[in-house]
Amino acid sequence: MCGIIGYRGDKDSKRIVIEGLKSLEYRGYDSWGIATVLNDRVAVFKKVGKIGGFSADQLKMEAGRIAIGHTRWATHGNVTEANAHPHVSCDGKIAVVHNGIIENYQELKAELKDHKFVSQTDTEIIPHLIEGYVREGYGFVEATKRALSRLEGRFAVVAVMAGYDGLIGARRGSPLVLGLGGGEREYFIASDIPAFLNHTRNVVFLEDNELVVLNKDYRIMNIKTGEDIKREPQHIDWDAAQAEKGDYPHFMIKEVLEQRDTVSRAIKQSDGEIMEVAKMLNDSFGSFFVACGTAGKVALAGTYLFSRIANKHVNFSVSSEFPNYTHFLTDKTLMIVVSQSGETADTLEAMDAARAKGVKIVGVVNVMGSTITRQADRFLLVKAGPEKCVASTKATTGQLAIVTLLAYACAGRLEEGRELLEDASAKINAILTEEYVANIRALAEKIKGWESMYIIGRGLNYPMALEAAIKVQEVSYIHAEGFAGGELKHGPIALISNGTPCIVLVANDETKPDILSNAVEVKARGGFIIGVAPKNNEVFDFWIPVPDVGNASPIVNIIPVQILAYHLAVLRGCNPDMPRNLAKSVTVK
Ligand code: G6P
Repeated sequence: MCGIIGYRGDKDSKRIVIEGLKSLEYRGYDSWGIATVLNDRVAVFKKVGKIGGFSADQLKMEAGRIAIGHTRWATHGNVTEANAHPHVSCDGKIAVVHNGIIENYQELKAELKDHKFVSQTDTEIIPHLIEGYVREGYGFVEATKRALSRLEGRFAVVAVMAGYDGLIGARRGSPLVLGLGGGEREYFIASDIPAFLNHTRNVVFLEDNELVVLNKDYRIMNIKTGEDIKREPQHIDWDAAQAEKGDYPHFMIKEVLEQRDTVSRAIKQSDGEIMEVAKMLNDSFGSFFVACGTAGKVALAGTYLFSRIANKHVNFSVSSEFPNYTHFLTDKTLMIVVSQSGETADTLEAMDAARAKGVKIVGVVNVMGSTITRQADRFLLVKAGPEKCVASTKATTGQLAIVTLLAYACAGRLEEGRELLEDASAKINAILTEEYVANIRALAEKIKGWESMYIIGRGLNYPMALEAAIKVQEVSYIHAEGFAGGELKHGPIALISNGTPCIVLVANDETKPDILSNAVEVKARGGFIIGVAPKNNEVFDFWIPVPDVGNASPIVNIIPVQILAYHLAVLRGCNPDMPRNLAKSVTVK
């Protein structure tokens, strides 16, 4: 969590950092801060709350060629100005922004007796540690290198010092990417590419335990050994407009509507690549789908898709629970991790646990260059473009498309899978009209006052019922729960009262009669039945039509619920892009 940006160059450094922070806010938004580097001091400004409409013109601070900024998702210490980053050394000359958790900060703090701390954060020890080494006579780079090599835990750090015409960045476990600007010796460094996408698409990804010094040139070295590392820049083909809201009121609705073509983009994988992954899957035994949150629901759907299409059993675990299964792992196991960001700490830890057992890893990931794309043995890119809203939508359906295609590839029916998904994509494009969205908004008006709702599905659509519940919860704060249709009668049906909204996800497959029976049972207890189905049915009080697309039904069934969740959020006065307490890229355990 937390977003970091640093800039060195001839442009307006304050403006670049403030604009960059706005595009990083999805990573955390409880407070923010900026530091500018002058010859004799570092100037710092911090504020509690979202950066929102704050503009660089409102910042009455002096600025030079270098500035750093941070948007926070609190871990250590409450949401206060004192705990917001950047944090500074005693003499106010060294400033640091940090994303991650320093596990040994208490021991280090105990060592730094003659330093004055003003926050409750783990981060604050970093500028003081650096200052300690500077006092001992080390230069800024060496002092930072020494300080960082003392840290235990995960970090992405950017440090600056008064009078030093450069930035130092370093990472272990949390993401950090370098942008090479157009201007001479112009550099960006950030948690994620969209922070500087308006300025450059030439990037260099830092690896774990690497430190980069950005001044006249960029120099990457190993934090521990100091050994130089050569790495050529890569060109990213993301379009800056994809990371902007444009005319849309929120990223969420923009990204939902971008699903008009995300499925067809996701399946543009070369046959060779898909078949190689399919071979790895077919050769594997006791394999696992592993992911968190929404990606976890895609992973669970993967187990159904593989069973149904490829006749293959694949296990599922949420990433944080995966280490409990490691005794089942052998070198025949394949791990398929699904992730939008490619940076989720729990998923990375699960990968570490798997690798230790000789397990091969395949990633299904949206962000090129992310840690998962670098650490997995192979990866398939979702190609949904930058997803900014905390609630995942277009990346989800892109991931579902890839997992479905893989299942067909494993069954030796790759072409059939492609045709099915192309057809689903065209049909999604056709239904996503203004009228369709307005109809769902009318439904949201009707049910927005309810504090609870339930979503049921069976088979392929059971994981989507779970996903639908997450969507509604996280953006509208309505208590929503998803169940397998058959489970209702084992408890949750007791919660249905007169008018309780219940969304029923229906696919035109063998589960249809049973899920409709479950809907009837809910209706008999007074439930208000919202059917998401290819065909209307007398049990539905409100019908949301979806195309009949066979095994691609999870993809088309989740989209109307995303639209519903969006409108529920807006009608209830919530900001769907930045739900309370959440962050998009969860880089802490
Ligand atoms: C957070 C986000 C979710 C996402 C999950 C996993 O909880 O809010 O939208 O599904 O992390 O993230 P990943 O980047 O691995 O898909």
